Amino acid sequence: MSKETLELHWGKHHRGYVDKLNKQIANTDFERYNLEDLINVSYNNGNPQPIFNNAAQVWNHDFFWDTLRPHGGKEPSGQVLDRITKQFGSYDAFVEDFKHAATTLFGSGWVWLSLKKDTELVVEKSLNAINPLVWDHIPLLSLDIWEHAYYLDFQNERGAYINMFFDNLINWEAVENRLNRAKGFIGLGDIIIPSVESIQEREKRSYYV
Ligand SMILES: [Fe+2]
Repeated sequence: MSKETLELHWGKHHRGYVDKLNKQIANTDFERYNLEDLINVSYNNGNPQPIFNNAAQVWNHDFFWDTLRPHGGKEPSGQVLDRITKQFGSYDAFVEDFKHAATTLFGSGWVWLSLKKDTELVVEKSLNAINPLVWDHIPLLSLDIWEHAYYLDFQNERGAYINMFFDNLINWEAVENRLNRAKGFIGLGDIIIPSVESIQEREKRSYYV
């Protein structure tokens, strides 16, 4: 991703969403919400209120920048790779799914790798500003498919932009951190069998309490 694209995308487009949202919510009840609550409330069960687009696009871009790093990309490792392999059959099969979603998305939007129903990993598309939070999914990875994300660098070659994302830009550590955070409040289907030592330790502690 070129310096020019980053400067324009982050400095103008993202900034524009922030400025417009701040103007829209000034002196309204919406000021007291955090951004995620604001998205859910203004989504209004599929009948979005005017602030929804700017609120969601602010969140989407915050999330997207955190998904990228210089010299990133390649294959993930550890639990991220394990879960992808378990869900999609292989890392290559996941990449194929994601690239297919990204190349076939019509118009502007986003492609996501999300956790759905607590344990299932899914590749999903969203149009315009919509993101998986409004479906109660937990996003782990995203790719911006608005033309402002790639037109300067690749013009109409969206596929080249998607390849660059996979080859050089994905921050898999961020994805792993998001997965770890998700574990804090959902089960992820892992069965944790406590060791005999930890049970004995707990009993010992409770005896003294
Ligand atoms: Fe964007």
